[in-house]
Amino acid sequence: MSDSVKLTYNDETFEFPLIEGTEDEKGIDIKTLRAKTGLITYDPGYKNTGSCESSITFLDGEKGILRYRGYAIEDLCENSSFIEVAYLLIYGDLPSEEELNKFSKEITEESIVDEDLKTILKSFPKTAHPMGVLSSLTSALIAFNPVAVNVDSDAEMRFAVVKLMAKFPILASWTHRKGKGLPLNYADTKLSYVENLASMMFKRPNDVYTQSPVVVNALNKLLILHADHEQNCSTSTVRIVGSSHAGLFASVSAGISALWGPLHGGANQAVIEMLEAIQADGGDTKKYMAKAKDKNDPFRLMGFGHRVYKNFDPRARIIKSAADEVLTELGIDDPILEIAKGLEKEALSDPYFVERKLYPNVDFYSGIIYRALGIPTQMFTVMFALGRLPGWIAQWMEMRKKNEPIGRPRQIYTGSTDRKI
Ligand code: CMC
Repeated sequence: MSDSVKLTYNDETFEFPLIEGTEDEKGIDIKTLRAKTGLITYDPGYKNTGSCESSITFLDGEKGILRYRGYAIEDLCENSSFIEVAYLLIYGDLPSEEELNKFSKEITEESIVDEDLKTILKSFPKTAHPMGVLSSLTSALIAFNPVAVNVDSDAEMRFAVVKLMAKFPILASWTHRKGKGLPLNYADTKLSYVENLASMMFKRPNDVYTQSPVVVNALNKLLILHADHEQNCSTSTVRIVGSSHAGLFASVSAGISALWGPLHGGANQAVIEMLEAIQADGGDTKKYMAKAKDKNDPFRLMGFGHRVYKNFDPRARIIKSAADEVLTELGIDDPILEIAKGLEKEALSDPYFVERKLYPNVDFYSGIIYRALGIPTQMFTVMFALGRLPGWIAQWMEMRKKNEPIGRPRQIYTGSTDRKI
């Protein structure tokens, strides 16, 4: 097997080395392409472009495999807590009991934000989209923690990680509570990370909040499933913003904005809105299937298709059965679940979807669970962000520790040539 690639251009042959990962995927190392040939590559949407070497997450879109640091997503969902998975992503290995206790204790100690943040939150209209609010509040955290982190200091990096892991659920749940007109409460230091999140989100001021194992398990699974997904749009955003040496909080704030879009994390909100629209329109799934296939209609079947998964999305499989479980255990009969299953069944046997390898993705069923847990539709992408946080942190740290160069793609200019006024 050859370990290089030859490119012939203008009768000259240039050789470029192959780079190989631990799971046998190969790439052409074109770092010297422009210097040697004067050419650049053209790849809109980076469909064929590897932006980095990474040892965090592996996914095989053809085989439907997703692993964090070598552990299968199915295994982690079954046997680990979200905070263990966060530790795994950020530090490379699952924590020992002692490491886990230390990490959790540090997070608990930092689970408080400056009271002045409430003033910032209060200045948003109640109708503001929670993703915009969350991104702004995460950015605002910088003002309250202005010291730049020395990335060569493990202690400083650890402190920045702990602070963000601790404060982010507070910002997210306050964003939710503000929308609901509920008081901005704090967590209970005796609870676990996910229990705290549930408590901060759902606790009513006139009632004691009783933890439900169904809710905690569902949240735990959902957060784990969303925790990382290699070089997706928001993660690439976090890495590219961080590559300018912008800080962790600023980079994550940018990642939240990238996640917001309906083609990325915002799809979970778009899926439920689509299912509700189909229900309100009489439940005619065939009509919407036809719209999705009509090239003159901008409508897409939200929650279907993936840039990388071309067989099935392993996260969707886990979420689908979790949705069934949660609805049964909570005794909820949601007609929207039936519409979703109907759409999936039709799409899986429709040549348009089969030929294009379009399968349900992680967002197709997650919204049904969030809905069953009483989370408003506009908050769905915030839930995704809560899960994705450790992935963003891990990817940002990896990029900074490797001292990667500033991200700066080139272009093929197609505008006017030299003009005079
Ligand atoms: N409904 C109808 N047609 C679709 C869909 C869809 N959901 N997704 C892709 N196609 C068609 C598309 O029109 C194109 O057809 P043609 O070859 O005839 O032009 C073909 O399939 C390939 O699509 P693409 O847009 O070139 O594929 P992509 O890799 O650039 O986009 C995607 C991937 C996820 C953005 C896209 O499938 C999509 O828009 N899906 C709906 C939004 C969604 O569910 N997003 C969540 C992604 S998973 C969560 C996450 O990780 O963010």
